[in-house]
Amino acid sequence: MKYIIKNICCIGAGYVGGPTMAVIASHCPNIQINVIDINQERINAWNDDNLKNLPIFEPGLDALIKKCRDINLHFSCEIEKHIANADMIFISVNTPTKAKGLGAGQAIDLKWIDATARQISKYARGKTIVVEKSTLPVKTARTIKEILGSKNSDRENYQDKYSEFVVLSNPEFLSEGTAINNLQNPDRVLIGGEDLKAINSLAEIYSNWIEKEKIITTNLWSSELSKLTANAFLAQRISSINSISALCEATGADINEVSLAIGSDRRIGKEFLKSGPGFGGSCFKKDILNLIYLCNHYGLREVSDYWQKVLDLNEWQTQRISKIVVEKLFGTISGKKIAILGFAFKANTNDTRESPAINICKELLDEGGMISIYDPKVNVNQIKSELGAEKYDFSNNLDGSWRFAETIIDASHNADAIIIVTEWDEFNNIDWNTISKIMRHPAWLFDTRSFKNSYEASDYGINVWMLGNGLKEKIER
Ligand code: NAD
Ligand code: UGA
Repeated sequence: MKYIIKNICCIGAGYVGGPTMAVIASHCPNIQINVIDINQERINAWNDDNLKNLPIFEPGLDALIKKCRDINLHFSCEIEKHIANADMIFISVNTPTKAKGLGAGQAIDLKWIDATARQISKYARGKTIVVEKSTLPVKTARTIKEILGSKNSDRENYQDKYSEFVVLSNPEFLSEGTAINNLQNPDRVLIGGEDLKAINSLAEIYSNWIEKEKIITTNLWSSELSKLTANAFLAQRISSINSISALCEATGADINEVSLAIGSDRRIGKEFLKSGPGFGGSCFKKDILNLIYLCNHYGLREVSDYWQKVLDLNEWQTQRISKIVVEKLFGTISGKKIAILGFAFKANTNDTRESPAINICKELLDEGGMISIYDPKVNVNQIKSELGAEKYDFSNNLDGSWRFAETIIDASHNADAIIIVTEWDEFNNIDWNTISKIMRHPAWLFDTRSFKNSYEASDYGINVWMLGNGLKEKIER
């Protein structure tokens, strides 16, 4: 038993809404999909003829957009029309941490979810399945149901209409940079709900390309909580390995060797054991903060303290990078040039939300450094929005200013130090011979992603500091 789904509307054309709907559209040619957003600029970018101008960069996304756009995948700001026509509506709007008011700094700000539910309540017609795609606190489905079910004045303007709603939870587990592959070949699809017919209808869509065994169905609250828990567990592994990276530096052990050794145990597993400058991205921090808020709400203080430590360790890991840089550069970086390689929070994305590069740069700017930033996919305006435009441009300011570099070479000219922050592939192929010649000596390389090739820099007279290791220890063995 299932409902027939011919029209899907996705509210929110962001990192989740865009790629997810592109993949569904490519596998379900008989379903018309409208992705809608309040941000006209973003919608224009999704509709840009030049696929290089899509609002987000994800490997493989451009090919899907080329295949489906204007055929069964459409991007627009026509919210009323597309909600009204939809049999199924995905909510993929942003759910950031609350900045002020009750629960500020921890709880999720549900204002976009609230607004979306009200739009659906106002415009939907007939039987409509509402799918939570956004990551939400446990029990949000109840709030959405209440808003959808209430008789508000907006709905009374549409008294002729009949509308009935079912709410499902279908959290998204994609990672940025590998989103298309994750959506094409997910480890699992999770659907939480109470209405079997609606669950079957959503499962049927996914079964066009995903094996039935991978589609897990649960109750609503298990589904909502599983998403927060998955992110908390992933982040916890990173904080665990990062904590050991510091111990490796102190003892002469090598974090990559430790990761390999422990990850070979199937019970531990190899994934998510790469040490780095701390996890970034829009979700790990906010989702753990939300988990902490929920635990406190239910009086589970010990549990919230446990998860708080995962965040504390992450912050400490990022902070210690800039401290080490200042220490190695004789205690001052005032007026010194530092090249930052990578500004995105991870490779293969142009997303900079919560990127460790932001705090590393801010701390170095506070110390008076002159920073040249190069990232293969992040543009200058994005960096301005994170670091502030007032410190932009070397020529106006001496100490504590930054500039945008077009290439690695451009960033490295006269630099006293280079810091690798993001694990872009091209940083593993740097020609250290050439770079050494254009740097100011004594020159340093600080590699927070421990690329194998970085050790070569020392052959050309560059001092190398490697997170979770030390070149000195490596040479002595
Ligand atoms: P995003 O900020 O990139 O996109 C959200 C979009 O929703 C924005 O374009 C915004 O303008 C739009 N929007 C907000 N309110 C709206 C409204 N009332 N009507 C129409 N459009 C509206 O966010 P994202 O990264 O796509 O994340 C969306 C959700 O998915 C979040 O809950 C996030 O936690 C979750 N999630 C994100 C990822 C990820 O990798 N980014 C992965 C899994 C889950
Ligand atoms: C993460 C989860 O992996 C997704 O499953 C989830 O859907 C998503 O959050 C979400 O809810 O938004 P994402 O943030 O895109 O995905 O990227 P990750 O690959 O998880 O990386 C997050 C951060 O951890 C990055 O800064 C990355 O550099 C860092 N990381 C990751 C490490 O330092 N070491 C690792 O071994 C893995």
